[in-house]
Amino acid sequence: MQQDMILILDLGSEENSALAREIRALGVYSEIYSHDITAEELAALPNVKGIILNGGENRMVDGVAIDASDAVYESGIAVLAVDHKARRIAGLTALGAWSNDTEEHLAELRSFVFDTCKATPNWSMENFIADQVELLRRQIGDKKVLLALSGGVDSSVVAALLIRAVGDQLTCVHVNHGLLRKGEPEEVVSVFKEELGANLVYVDAIDRFLDKLAGVADPEEKRKIIGAEFIRVFEEEARKLEGIDFLGQGTIYPDIIESGTKTAQAVKAHHNVGGLPDDLQFELVEPLKMLFKDEVRACGRALGLPESMVERQPFPGPGLGVRCLGEITRERLECVRESDAILREEFERAGLAGKVWQYFTAVPEFKTVGVRNNARCFEYPVILRAVNTIDAMTATIERLDYDLLERIVERITTEVPGVNRVVFDLTPKPTGTIEWE
Ligand code: XMP
Repeated sequence: MQQDMILILDLGSEENSALAREIRALGVYSEIYSHDITAEELAALPNVKGIILNGGENRMVDGVAIDASDAVYESGIAVLAVDHKARRIAGLTALGAWSNDTEEHLAELRSFVFDTCKATPNWSMENFIADQVELLRRQIGDKKVLLALSGGVDSSVVAALLIRAVGDQLTCVHVNHGLLRKGEPEEVVSVFKEELGANLVYVDAIDRFLDKLAGVADPEEKRKIIGAEFIRVFEEEARKLEGIDFLGQGTIYPDIIESGTKTAQAVKAHHNVGGLPDDLQFELVEPLKMLFKDEVRACGRALGLPESMVERQPFPGPGLGVRCLGEITRERLECVRESDAILREEFERAGLAGKVWQYFTAVPEFKTVGVRNNARCFEYPVILRAVNTIDAMTATIERLDYDLLERIVERITTEVPGVNRVVFDLTPKPTGTIEWE
Protein backbone atom coordinates (compact mmCIF):
# COMPACT_ATOMS: atom_id res chain seq x y z
CA MET A 1 0.00 0.00 0.00
CA GLN A 2 1.29 3.37 -0.98
CA GLN A 3 -0.63 5.89 1.07
CA ASP A 4 -0.77 7.05 4.70
CA MET A 5 -4.20 6.98 6.28
CA ILE A 6 -6.19 8.85 8.94
CA LEU A 7 -9.09 6.84 10.40
CA ILE A 8 -12.31 8.52 11.40
CA LEU A 9 -14.26 6.60 14.02
CA ASP A 10 -17.97 7.34 14.00
CA LEU A 11 -18.95 8.31 17.53
CA GLY A 12 -22.29 9.69 16.50
CA SER A 13 -21.35 12.53 14.16
CA GLU A 14 -23.37 13.42 11.08
CA GLU A 15 -20.26 14.89 9.51
CA ASN A 16 -18.03 11.86 9.00
CA SER A 17 -18.12 11.89 5.19
CA ALA A 18 -17.52 15.63 5.07
CA LEU A 19 -14.49 15.17 7.35
CA ALA A 20 -13.12 12.28 5.26
CA ARG A 21 -13.41 14.44 2.16
CA GLU A 22 -11.59 17.33 3.88
CA ILE A 23 -8.72 15.07 4.88
CA ARG A 24 -8.51 13.59 1.38
CA ALA A 25 -8.54 17.17 0.04
CA LEU A 26 -5.37 17.73 2.13
CA GLY A 27 -3.84 14.88 0.12
CA VAL A 28 -4.07 12.31 2.92
CA TYR A 29 -6.21 9.19 2.55
CA SER A 30 -9.02 8.74 5.08
CA GLU A 31 -11.64 6.08 5.83
CA ILE A 32 -14.60 5.93 8.23
CA TYR A 33 -15.04 3.03 10.68
CA SER A 34 -17.42 2.08 13.43
CA HIS A 35 -16.49 3.15 17.00
CA ASP A 36 -16.01 -0.46 18.12
CA ILE A 37 -13.27 -1.35 15.63
CA THR A 38 -11.32 -4.33 16.99
CA ALA A 39 -7.57 -4.67 17.48
CA GLU A 40 -7.46 -7.18 14.59
CA GLU A 41 -9.32 -4.87 12.22
CA LEU A 42 -7.07 -2.00 13.20
CA ALA A 43 -3.92 -4.09 12.72
CA ALA A 44 -5.10 -5.12 9.23
CA LEU A 45 -5.25 -1.50 8.06
CA PRO A 46 -1.98 -0.33 6.54
CA ASN A 47 -0.18 2.93 7.34
CA VAL A 48 -2.64 4.36 9.88
CA LYS A 49 -1.02 7.58 11.11
CA GLY A 50 -3.85 8.96 13.23
CA ILE A 51 -7.37 8.33 14.51
CA ILE A 52 -10.12 10.91 14.94
CA LEU A 53 -12.90 10.08 17.39
CA ASN A 54 -15.63 12.12 15.76
CA GLY A 55 -18.31 12.64 18.38
CA GLY A 56 -21.74 14.14 17.91
CA GLU A 57 -25.47 14.02 18.39
CA ASN A 58 -25.94 10.28 18.02
CA ARG A 59 -23.40 9.30 20.68
CA MET A 60 -26.01 7.64 22.87
CA VAL A 61 -27.04 4.11 21.93
CA ASP A 62 -29.76 2.57 24.14
CA GLY A 63 -29.18 5.33 26.69
CA VAL A 64 -25.44 4.64 27.03
CA ALA A 65 -22.75 6.97 25.71
CA ILE A 66 -20.54 4.97 23.36
CA ASP A 67 -16.76 5.10 23.45
CA ALA A 68 -14.04 3.81 21.19
CA SER A 69 -12.79 0.31 21.94
CA ASP A 70 -9.70 -0.34 24.10
CA ALA A 71 -7.85 -1.30 20.92
CA VAL A 72 -7.87 2.32 19.84
CA TYR A 73 -6.50 3.69 23.12
CA GLU A 74 -3.90 0.95 23.33
CA SER A 75 -2.74 1.15 19.71
CA GLY A 76 -0.09 3.79 20.30
CA ILE A 77 -1.47 5.71 17.30
CA ALA A 78 -2.10 9.46 17.71
CA VAL A 79 -5.73 10.11 18.68
CA LEU A 80 -7.81 13.28 18.34
CA ALA A 81 -11.04 13.27 20.34
CA VAL A 82 -13.66 15.78 19.17
CA ASP A 83 -16.69 16.69 21.29
CA HIS A 84 -16.25 13.46 23.15
CA LYS A 85 -15.27 12.57 26.69
CA ALA A 86 -12.44 10.27 25.77
CA ARG A 87 -10.29 8.45 28.27
CA ARG A 88 -7.17 10.40 29.22
CA ILE A 89 -4.19 8.71 27.65
CA ALA A 90 -0.78 9.91 26.60
CA GLY A 91 -0.73 11.27 23.08
CA LEU A 92 -4.43 12.10 23.02
CA THR A 93 -5.40 15.51 21.68
CA ALA A 94 -8.81 16.75 22.86
CA LEU A 95 -10.94 19.27 21.02
CA GLY A 96 -14.28 20.43 22.48
CA ALA A 97 -15.76 20.76 19.01
CA TRP A 98 -14.60 21.61 15.51
CA SER A 99 -14.47 25.36 14.96
CA ASN A 100 -17.44 26.82 13.09
CA ASP A 101 -15.03 29.03 11.21
CA THR A 102 -13.89 27.21 8.05
CA GLU A 103 -10.34 28.58 8.15
CA GLU A 104 -9.88 27.75 11.83
CA HIS A 105 -11.38 24.31 11.34
CA LEU A 106 -8.95 23.57 8.51
CA ALA A 107 -6.05 24.82 10.65
CA GLU A 108 -7.10 22.44 13.47
CA LEU A 109 -7.30 19.57 11.01
CA ARG A 110 -3.97 20.36 9.33
CA SER A 111 -2.25 20.66 12.67
CA PHE A 112 -3.44 17.19 13.72
CA VAL A 113 -2.81 15.49 10.36
CA PHE A 114 0.59 16.98 9.61
CA ASP A 115 2.12 18.15 12.93
CA THR A 116 0.80 15.50 15.32
CA CYS A 117 0.46 12.49 13.01
CA LYS A 118 3.26 13.45 10.59
CA ALA A 119 1.19 12.04 7.73
CA THR A 120 2.60 12.36 4.22
CA PRO A 121 0.21 13.82 1.65
CA ASN A 122 0.58 10.95 -0.81
CA TRP A 123 -3.07 10.22 -1.63
CA SER A 124 -3.34 10.40 -5.40
CA MET A 125 -5.33 8.63 -8.09
CA GLU A 126 -2.15 7.06 -9.46
CA ASN A 127 -1.39 5.52 -6.05
CA PHE A 128 -5.01 4.44 -5.62
CA ILE A 129 -5.00 2.71 -9.01
CA ALA A 130 -1.63 1.04 -8.34
CA ASP A 131 -2.93 -0.25 -4.97
CA GLN A 132 -6.20 -1.50 -6.41
CA VAL A 133 -4.52 -3.26 -9.32
CA GLU A 134 -2.30 -5.10 -6.84
CA LEU A 135 -5.24 -5.94 -4.52
CA LEU A 136 -7.46 -7.09 -7.40
CA ARG A 137 -4.73 -9.35 -8.77
CA ARG A 138 -4.23 -10.83 -5.32
CA GLN A 139 -8.00 -11.34 -4.77
CA ILE A 140 -8.82 -12.72 -8.21
CA GLY A 141 -5.69 -14.76 -8.95
CA ASP A 142 -6.23 -16.66 -12.21
CA LYS A 143 -10.01 -16.84 -11.81
CA LYS A 144 -12.71 -15.12 -13.87
CA VAL A 145 -14.85 -12.06 -13.20
CA LEU A 146 -18.22 -11.05 -14.62
CA LEU A 147 -19.48 -7.46 -14.76
CA ALA A 148 -22.79 -5.92 -15.84
CA LEU A 149 -21.60 -2.90 -17.80
CA SER A 150 -24.41 -0.37 -18.17
CA GLY A 151 -22.22 2.43 -19.49
CA GLY A 152 -22.92 4.57 -16.41
CA VAL A 153 -19.97 6.16 -14.61
CA ASP A 154 -19.53 3.57 -11.85
CA SER A 155 -19.75 0.38 -13.90
CA SER A 156 -17.53 1.92 -16.62
CA VAL A 157 -14.81 2.82 -14.12
CA VAL A 158 -14.97 -0.63 -12.49
CA ALA A 159 -14.61 -2.18 -15.95
CA ALA A 160 -11.60 -0.02 -16.81
CA LEU A 161 -9.93 -0.84 -13.49
CA LEU A 162 -10.56 -4.58 -13.85
CA ILE A 163 -9.23 -4.55 -17.42
CA ARG A 164 -6.05 -2.88 -16.12
CA ALA A 165 -5.76 -5.48 -13.33
CA VAL A 166 -6.82 -8.79 -14.88
CA GLY A 167 -7.34 -8.12 -18.61
CA ASP A 168 -9.23 -10.88 -20.35
CA GLN A 169 -10.13 -12.70 -17.12
CA LEU A 170 -12.92 -10.12 -17.08
CA THR A 171 -16.10 -10.58 -19.12
CA CYS A 172 -18.38 -7.55 -19.42
CA VAL A 173 -22.04 -8.01 -20.31
CA HIS A 174 -23.80 -5.00 -21.81
CA VAL A 175 -27.57 -5.47 -21.97
CA ASN A 176 -29.25 -3.14 -24.43
CA HIS A 177 -32.84 -3.05 -23.19
CA GLY A 178 -33.85 -0.46 -25.77
CA LEU A 179 -34.24 2.21 -23.09
CA LEU A 180 -30.75 3.72 -23.33
CA ARG A 181 -30.00 7.20 -24.59
CA LYS A 182 -29.05 7.82 -28.20
CA GLY A 183 -25.52 6.63 -28.95
CA GLU A 184 -24.92 4.98 -25.56
CA PRO A 185 -24.72 1.30 -26.56
CA GLU A 186 -22.49 2.24 -29.50
CA GLU A 187 -20.16 4.20 -27.18
CA VAL A 188 -19.88 1.28 -24.74
CA VAL A 189 -18.91 -1.07 -27.57
CA SER A 190 -16.46 1.38 -29.13
CA VAL A 191 -14.71 2.31 -25.86
CA PHE A 192 -14.58 -1.09 -24.20
CA LYS A 193 -14.38 -3.55 -27.07
CA GLU A 194 -12.52 -1.56 -29.67
CA GLU A 195 -10.28 0.76 -27.62
CA LEU A 196 -9.72 -1.18 -24.40
CA GLY A 197 -9.93 -4.65 -25.97
CA ALA A 198 -12.34 -5.98 -23.33
CA ASN A 199 -14.18 -9.28 -23.52
CA LEU A 200 -17.57 -7.72 -24.12
CA VAL A 201 -20.79 -9.62 -24.61
CA TYR A 202 -23.30 -7.26 -26.21
CA VAL A 203 -26.86 -8.45 -25.76
CA ASP A 204 -29.52 -6.97 -28.01
CA ALA A 205 -32.59 -7.49 -25.82
CA ILE A 206 -34.61 -4.59 -27.23
CA ASP A 207 -37.55 -6.61 -28.57
CA ARG A 208 -37.63 -8.78 -25.51
CA PHE A 209 -37.99 -5.80 -23.15
CA LEU A 210 -40.42 -3.85 -25.32
CA ASP A 211 -42.62 -6.94 -25.80
CA LYS A 212 -42.74 -7.50 -22.03
CA LEU A 213 -43.62 -3.84 -21.48
CA ALA A 214 -46.36 -3.69 -24.11
CA GLY A 215 -49.67 -2.57 -22.62
CA VAL A 216 -48.18 -1.72 -19.19
CA ALA A 217 -48.86 1.87 -18.09
CA ASP A 218 -48.26 1.79 -14.33
CA PRO A 219 -44.83 3.30 -13.45
CA GLU A 220 -44.03 0.87 -10.63
CA GLU A 221 -45.12 -2.10 -12.74
CA LYS A 222 -42.85 -0.87 -15.56
CA ARG A 223 -39.92 -0.54 -13.14
CA LYS A 224 -40.52 -4.07 -11.80
CA ILE A 225 -40.66 -5.59 -15.27
CA ILE A 226 -37.48 -3.80 -16.40
CA GLY A 227 -35.58 -4.79 -13.22
CA ALA A 228 -36.71 -8.42 -13.28
CA GLU A 229 -36.07 -8.84 -17.01
CA PHE A 230 -32.62 -7.33 -16.61
CA ILE A 231 -31.72 -9.91 -13.97
CA ARG A 232 -33.11 -12.69 -16.18
CA VAL A 233 -31.06 -11.65 -19.23
CA PHE A 234 -27.92 -11.19 -17.14
CA GLU A 235 -28.43 -14.56 -15.47
CA GLU A 236 -28.85 -16.29 -18.85
CA GLU A 237 -25.58 -14.78 -20.05
CA ALA A 238 -23.83 -15.73 -16.80
CA ARG A 239 -24.93 -19.36 -17.19
CA LYS A 240 -23.48 -19.49 -20.72
CA LEU A 241 -20.03 -18.60 -19.38
CA GLU A 242 -17.90 -21.25 -17.74
CA GLY A 243 -16.12 -20.97 -14.40
CA ILE A 244 -16.96 -17.45 -13.22
CA ASP A 245 -16.07 -16.94 -9.55
CA PHE A 246 -16.37 -13.19 -9.09
CA LEU A 247 -18.96 -10.54 -9.81
CA GLY A 248 -17.77 -6.94 -10.24
CA GLN A 249 -19.89 -4.23 -8.62
CA GLY A 250 -19.89 -0.46 -8.97
CA THR A 251 -20.54 0.12 -5.27
CA ILE A 252 -19.18 3.50 -4.15
CA TYR A 253 -18.44 4.96 -0.71
CA PRO A 254 -21.75 6.87 -0.25
CA ASP A 255 -23.62 3.55 -0.83
CA ILE A 256 -21.69 2.06 2.08
CA ILE A 257 -21.98 5.10 4.32
CA GLU A 258 -25.72 5.44 3.58
CA SER A 259 -26.27 1.85 4.66
CA GLY A 260 -25.53 3.19 8.14
CA THR A 261 -22.89 2.52 10.76
CA LYS A 262 -23.80 1.34 14.23
CA THR A 263 -24.51 4.83 15.47
CA ALA A 264 -26.02 6.40 12.36
CA GLN A 265 -29.48 5.53 11.13
CA ALA A 266 -29.49 3.75 7.78
CA VAL A 267 -30.57 6.23 5.12
CA LYS A 268 -31.41 3.50 2.66
CA ALA A 269 -30.75 -0.18 2.36
CA HIS A 270 -27.84 -0.93 0.09
CA HIS A 271 -28.93 -3.41 -2.55
CA ASN A 272 -26.70 -3.57 -5.53
CA VAL A 273 -27.03 -7.19 -6.50
CA GLY A 274 -30.57 -7.63 -5.21
CA GLY A 275 -32.40 -10.25 -7.21
CA LEU A 276 -29.67 -12.57 -8.48
CA PRO A 277 -30.71 -16.18 -7.84
CA ASP A 278 -29.05 -18.02 -4.95
CA ASP A 279 -27.59 -20.78 -7.10
CA LEU A 280 -25.47 -18.26 -8.99
CA GLN A 281 -22.83 -17.86 -6.36
CA PHE A 282 -20.22 -15.22 -6.82
CA GLU A 283 -17.76 -13.48 -4.59
CA LEU A 284 -18.07 -9.71 -4.96
CA VAL A 285 -15.31 -7.45 -6.28
CA GLU A 286 -15.99 -3.82 -5.37
CA PRO A 287 -12.86 -1.79 -6.14
CA LEU A 288 -14.57 1.64 -5.89
CA LYS A 289 -16.20 1.09 -2.53
CA MET A 290 -13.93 3.61 -0.81
CA LEU A 291 -14.33 6.41 -3.37
CA PHE A 292 -16.65 9.39 -3.42
CA LYS A 293 -18.36 10.19 -6.72
CA ASP A 294 -15.94 12.90 -7.85
CA GLU A 295 -13.04 10.55 -7.06
CA VAL A 296 -14.68 7.83 -9.16
CA ARG A 297 -14.75 10.30 -12.05
CA ALA A 298 -11.09 11.21 -11.48
CA CYS A 299 -10.22 7.51 -11.41
CA GLY A 300 -11.99 6.97 -14.75
CA ARG A 301 -10.12 9.90 -16.24
CA ALA A 302 -6.78 8.56 -14.99
CA LEU A 303 -7.63 5.22 -16.62
CA GLY A 304 -8.22 6.95 -19.95
CA LEU A 305 -12.02 6.83 -20.21
CA PRO A 306 -13.55 9.56 -22.41
CA GLU A 307 -14.95 12.68 -20.74
CA SER A 308 -18.44 11.90 -22.12
CA MET A 309 -18.48 8.72 -20.04
CA VAL A 310 -16.76 10.05 -16.92
CA GLU A 311 -18.94 13.18 -16.67
CA ARG A 312 -22.20 11.39 -17.42
CA GLN A 313 -25.15 12.72 -15.42
CA PRO A 314 -27.20 10.32 -13.26
CA PHE A 315 -29.50 8.14 -15.33
CA PRO A 316 -32.26 6.02 -13.79
CA GLY A 317 -31.84 2.23 -13.99
CA PRO A 318 -35.12 1.87 -15.95
CA GLY A 319 -33.67 4.42 -18.39
CA LEU A 320 -35.91 6.18 -20.89
CA GLY A 321 -38.65 3.75 -19.82
CA VAL A 322 -39.75 6.15 -17.06
CA ARG A 323 -39.61 9.13 -19.45
CA CYS A 324 -41.83 7.55 -22.08
CA LEU A 325 -44.80 8.20 -19.80
CA GLY A 326 -47.52 5.61 -19.40
CA GLU A 327 -47.48 2.72 -21.85
CA ILE A 328 -44.18 2.52 -23.72
CA THR A 329 -44.56 2.52 -27.49
CA ARG A 330 -41.70 2.41 -29.97
CA GLU A 331 -42.96 5.59 -31.63
CA ARG A 332 -42.94 7.68 -28.46
CA LEU A 333 -39.73 6.08 -27.22
CA GLU A 334 -38.03 7.48 -30.34
CA CYS A 335 -39.54 10.92 -29.58
CA VAL A 336 -37.96 10.74 -26.10
CA ARG A 337 -34.58 9.51 -27.37
CA GLU A 338 -34.30 12.05 -30.21
CA SER A 339 -35.48 15.04 -28.16
CA ASP A 340 -33.12 14.03 -25.31
CA ALA A 341 -30.20 13.93 -27.77
CA ILE A 342 -31.04 17.45 -29.01
CA LEU A 343 -31.33 18.76 -25.45
CA ARG A 344 -27.93 17.23 -24.61
CA GLU A 345 -26.31 18.69 -27.72
CA GLU A 346 -27.63 22.17 -26.99
CA PHE A 347 -26.60 22.01 -23.32
CA GLU A 348 -23.14 20.92 -24.40
CA ARG A 349 -22.92 23.81 -26.85
CA ALA A 350 -24.11 26.31 -24.20
CA GLY A 351 -21.51 25.12 -21.69
CA LEU A 352 -24.21 23.77 -19.35
CA ALA A 353 -23.44 20.06 -19.70
CA GLY A 354 -21.13 19.80 -16.69
CA LYS A 355 -22.95 22.50 -14.72
CA VAL A 356 -26.59 21.39 -14.52
CA TRP A 357 -27.06 18.29 -12.37
CA GLN A 358 -29.68 16.51 -14.46
CA TYR A 359 -31.68 17.36 -17.56
CA PHE A 360 -33.86 15.30 -19.83
CA THR A 361 -37.04 15.15 -21.84
CA ALA A 362 -40.24 13.18 -21.28
CA VAL A 363 -43.15 12.47 -23.59
CA PRO A 364 -46.73 12.01 -22.33
CA GLU A 365 -49.33 9.67 -23.80
CA PHE A 366 -51.63 12.36 -25.22
CA LYS A 367 -51.33 14.41 -28.40
CA THR A 368 -51.97 18.14 -28.85
CA VAL A 369 -53.29 20.14 -31.78
CA GLY A 370 -50.85 22.29 -33.74
CA VAL A 371 -50.18 23.71 -37.21
CA ARG A 372 -47.52 22.47 -39.59
CA ASN A 373 -47.18 23.58 -43.25
CA ASN A 374 -50.46 25.51 -43.00
CA ALA A 375 -52.35 22.40 -41.95
CA ARG A 376 -53.68 21.11 -38.65
CA CYS A 377 -51.44 18.52 -37.03
CA PHE A 378 -52.11 16.28 -34.04
CA GLU A 379 -48.79 15.30 -32.46
CA TYR A 380 -47.04 14.68 -29.12
CA PRO A 381 -45.68 17.40 -26.81
CA VAL A 382 -42.19 17.09 -25.30
CA ILE A 383 -41.55 18.09 -21.67
CA LEU A 384 -38.14 19.60 -20.80
CA ARG A 385 -36.69 19.26 -17.31
CA ALA A 386 -33.41 20.72 -15.95
CA VAL A 387 -32.69 20.56 -12.23
CA ASN A 388 -29.95 21.08 -9.68
CA THR A 389 -29.61 19.22 -6.41
CA ILE A 390 -27.07 18.08 -3.85
CA ASP A 391 -28.55 14.74 -2.84
CA ALA A 392 -31.59 14.27 -5.14
CA MET A 393 -33.89 14.58 -2.09
CA THR A 394 -34.82 18.13 -3.05
CA ALA A 395 -34.16 19.94 -6.32
CA THR A 396 -34.36 23.42 -7.81
CA ILE A 397 -34.93 24.50 -11.40
CA GLU A 398 -32.07 25.70 -13.60
CA ARG A 399 -33.01 29.17 -14.90
CA LEU A 400 -32.46 28.61 -18.59
CA ASP A 401 -31.78 31.41 -21.00
CA TYR A 402 -34.74 32.15 -23.33
CA ASP A 403 -32.58 32.15 -26.47
CA LEU A 404 -31.38 28.67 -25.57
CA LEU A 405 -34.93 27.52 -24.81
CA GLU A 406 -36.18 28.87 -28.14
CA ARG A 407 -33.38 27.12 -30.02
CA ILE A 408 -34.22 23.82 -28.31
CA VAL A 409 -37.94 24.23 -29.10
CA GLU A 410 -37.16 25.07 -32.73
CA ARG A 411 -34.91 22.04 -33.16
CA ILE A 412 -37.17 19.53 -31.40
CA THR A 413 -40.31 20.60 -33.28
CA THR A 414 -38.55 20.46 -36.66
CA GLU A 415 -36.18 17.53 -36.18
CA VAL A 416 -38.19 15.05 -34.13
CA PRO A 417 -40.95 13.38 -36.14
CA GLY A 418 -44.35 13.43 -34.44
CA VAL A 419 -43.63 16.32 -32.03
CA ASN A 420 -45.32 19.72 -32.48
CA ARG A 421 -44.98 21.34 -29.04
CA VAL A 422 -42.43 21.74 -26.22
CA VAL A 423 -43.08 22.73 -22.60
CA PHE A 424 -40.60 23.49 -19.80
CA ASP A 425 -41.39 22.06 -16.36
CA LEU A 426 -40.73 24.72 -13.70
CA THR A 427 -41.67 22.59 -10.68
CA PRO A 428 -39.06 22.15 -7.93
CA LYS A 429 -38.83 19.02 -5.79
CA PRO A 430 -41.01 19.06 -3.73
CA THR A 431 -43.72 19.05 -4.99
CA GLY A 432 -42.56 17.43 -8.21
CA THR A 433 -40.08 14.57 -8.15
CA ILE A 434 -37.16 14.90 -10.56
CA GLU A 435 -38.55 12.24 -12.88
CA TRP A 436 -42.19 12.29 -13.99
CA GLU A 437 -42.77 8.65 -13.08
P1 XMP B 1 -36.91 11.36 -8.23
O1 XMP B 1 -37.70 11.25 -9.50
O2 XMP B 1 -37.32 10.36 -7.20
O3 XMP B 1 -35.43 10.98 -8.66
O4 XMP B 1 -36.88 12.76 -7.70
C1 XMP B 1 -34.27 11.19 -7.88
C2 XMP B 1 -33.07 10.69 -8.66
O5 XMP B 1 -33.11 9.26 -8.81
C3 XMP B 1 -33.16 8.90 -10.17
N1 XMP B 1 -34.12 7.79 -10.31
C4 XMP B 1 -33.80 6.49 -10.40
N2 XMP B 1 -32.60 5.88 -10.41
N3 XMP B 1 -33.69 3.79 -10.60
C5 XMP B 1 -32.56 4.53 -10.53
O6 XMP B 1 -31.48 3.95 -10.57
C6 XMP B 1 -34.93 4.32 -10.58
O7 XMP B 1 -35.93 3.62 -10.67
C7 XMP B 1 -34.97 5.75 -10.48
N4 XMP B 1 -36.00 6.64 -10.43
C8 XMP B 1 -35.44 7.88 -10.31
C9 XMP B 1 -33.62 10.13 -10.91
O8 XMP B 1 -33.16 10.13 -12.26
C10 XMP B 1 -33.01 11.23 -10.09
O9 XMP B 1 -31.64 11.43 -10.41
